Amino acid sequence: MTDELLQAQALRKQFGNNVVLRDVDLSVGRGEVHAIVGENGAGKSTLIKILGGVHRADGGTMKLEGRELILNSPQAALDQGIVVIHQELSLAPDLTTEENIFLGHFPRNALGLLDRRRMRERTRELLDRLSIEIDPTVPVGQLSIAQQQMIEIAKAISVEAKMLVLDEPTAVLDANRVDTLFDLVERLKAQGIGIVFISHHLEEIFRIADRVTVLRDGERTGTSDVSAIDQDWLVSKMIGREFEAHHTQARGMGEVALELEELSSEGAFENVSFSVRAGEIVGLAGLIGAGRTEVAQAIFGVRPHSSGQMKVFGRPTRFSGPGAAKRQGIAYVSEDRKAFGLLPNRPVRENATISNLARFRSLGLLRLDRERAFVREQIEQLDIRLPSMQAEISTLSGGNQQKVLLGRALAGRPRVLIFDEPTRGVDIGAKREIYRFIEELAEDGVAIIVISSEMEEVLRLSDRVLVMRGGRVAAELPRGEATEESVMRAASLD
Ligand SMILES: Nc1ncnc2c1ncn2[C@@H]1O[C@H](COP(=O)(O)OP(=O)(O)OP(=O)(O)O)[C@@H](O)[C@H]1O
Ligand SMILES: [Mg+2]
Repeated sequence: MTDELLQAQALRKQFGNNVVLRDVDLSVGRGEVHAIVGENGAGKSTLIKILGGVHRADGGTMKLEGRELILNSPQAALDQGIVVIHQELSLAPDLTTEENIFLGHFPRNALGLLDRRRMRERTRELLDRLSIEIDPTVPVGQLSIAQQQMIEIAKAISVEAKMLVLDEPTAVLDANRVDTLFDLVERLKAQGIGIVFISHHLEEIFRIADRVTVLRDGERTGTSDVSAIDQDWLVSKMIGREFEAHHTQARGMGEVALELEELSSEGAFENVSFSVRAGEIVGLAGLIGAGRTEVAQAIFGVRPHSSGQMKVFGRPTRFSGPGAAKRQGIAYVSEDRKAFGLLPNRPVRENATISNLARFRSLGLLRLDRERAFVREQIEQLDIRLPSMQAEISTLSGGNQQKVLLGRALAGRPRVLIFDEPTRGVDIGAKREIYRFIEELAEDGVAIIVISSEMEEVLRLSDRVLVMRGGRVAAELPRGEATEESVMRAASLD
């Protein structure tokens, strides 16, 4: 590319003794979408954080439009027109959408006072451009993650950007939102903005990117025009081996473990009825806002239901909270790891066991040996990559944090397990491990509900697919009838 915007050369970064980037080069042209792919922990976010002024590289150089670039803070990057949307969203939950968008650059009137009207108008404009329908005056903490993600993007395009860096933006979006985002990317591209894009969804690379750089264990294993490569090339550069094909085994199913009868929760969902047997995997498909997470929350007792009934192994139950649900053997792995239970500055060990410490107690004492043995088993089973179980969980890569939370769900020996977007931010190799892990749980007789916006995931895992739309179950499709088309049709028809 002749029209270079950014040139990074031989970037190097280490944390303690752990070298996470070794001599990585990256160049981005004006109007180019440059994708970065690699397994969990390969160093993608670290590279992005260097571009965004969050981390200082230990070696190497960066140039923007030919001039040397030294970034001492995220604000410095922003001042240079480099806008980064990080993997972990960073909105202020108590502020409204408009306040979040203009935080740090509030519009002011002639007297230097906050110009609320202009702020509201500009917010409207931005939200319209992104086709986001939300009330800009509610605190963003009350919005879904997908909505928060779109607000981050609105925030990003509210400043004059030369470069937009997106760390796994599509991980929290459904198919429609991905389309909206990609339309926007095309428009920004046409304006000459350089875009760096990270995703574990390889098909997206082929849809949107011009070039791709692959990282493996902190090294750049390849850079190519996307038109010159295929998915196999990417995978082999990422992991250095090919995948074997998958065969699903038929599972035996036991008694009905969980049954919902006409369950309703005001404003969230209505008359939802279904059952899940021991050993069965039921997929909950649907678009964002269809009410899937809300149903899961009601089952887990963190959202009240207004009418209807729920039975666990035949016994009518009404949970007063997650504690009661857990005691009946129900576990829930949330889609929102930040809001739901991840303790960022605590060790992995604690994060893995915190919600079920009773299991590791005897005579009132916490048996550290038992706790460690459990954590070690999870690390092995889920192939969690980490320096030690004492490491703060926030220092693990996103995908590895997710695996710790999956493992945590097992500490309570659940009989009913609800996975809400279980593979968000997880690389394709790890994804397969997680699928196998979920299937093994089902083989052991756990009743499983999988909520996922990824069609392939739902179809691959589920014995039966329930499609939700507008708070209701719109269709129930057995494995043989559930196809991408039938699910999509049921999810979006009105
Ligand atoms: N603040 C930190 N302190 C110590 N180690 C860190 C820190 N941040 C990242 N690491 C380590 O650097 C390595 C690369 O992590 P990074 O987050 O860049 O991976 P990634 O490619 O973005 O992975 P993912 O796909 O899971 O998001 C990992 O081994 C991680 O544990
Ligand atoms: Mg990352």
